[in-house]
Amino acid sequence: MKKTIKVAIIGTGGISECHIEGYKKLPEVELYAFCDINRERLEAKAARHGVPVERCFTDANDMLRALPEIDAVSVCTWNNAHAACSIAALKAGKHVLCEKPMAMNTREAMAMKAAARRPASC
Ligand SMILES: NC(=O)c1ccc[n+]([C@@H]2O[C@H](COP(=O)([O-])OP(=O)(O)OC[C@H]3O[C@@H](n4cnc5c(N)ncnc54)[C@H](O)[C@@H]3O)[C@@H](O)[C@H]2O)c1
Repeated sequence: MKKTIKVAIIGTGGISECHIEGYKKLPEVELYAFCDINRERLEAKAARHGVPVERCFTDANDMLRALPEIDAVSVCTWNNAHAACSIAALKAGKHVLCEKPMAMNTREAMAMKAAARRPASC
């Protein structure tokens, strides 16, 4: 089956492995790009899963700008970055799967919900 869905992982620590293994089971999904503020972890994980180094980023906004073809992201960062990373991806028009807990507080969660309802780039 042709790989038609490009997925990026933001936060390549422990739980990201569950997302990655899930995506690898889906024939239409291409594990396309990785992002983590820890470059060493990022590159080790990318090498393990066959993501090319040119699609590895230490900043989620840089990744979203550089690779507009990404369809969806998994946000697997620490809790304090869930809102910022999810909102950036939603504003760029991506589908977002965010780890739990969703956010640090209700205000952040409401901002994420609003970003999901707005058309991209508003
Ligand atoms: N580990 C579990 O079993 C588990 C279970 C359920 C939920 N979760 C949730 O998953 C999330 C991640 O947990 P984990 O155990 O994988 O933590 P982890 O520390 O192993 O991995 C998190 C990664 O996110 C990176 N990161 C942090 N801020 C970032 C940012 N702004 N941009 C890019 N990368 C960033 C860190 O460098 C780290 O590599 C947490 O929200 C946690 O609550 C984890």
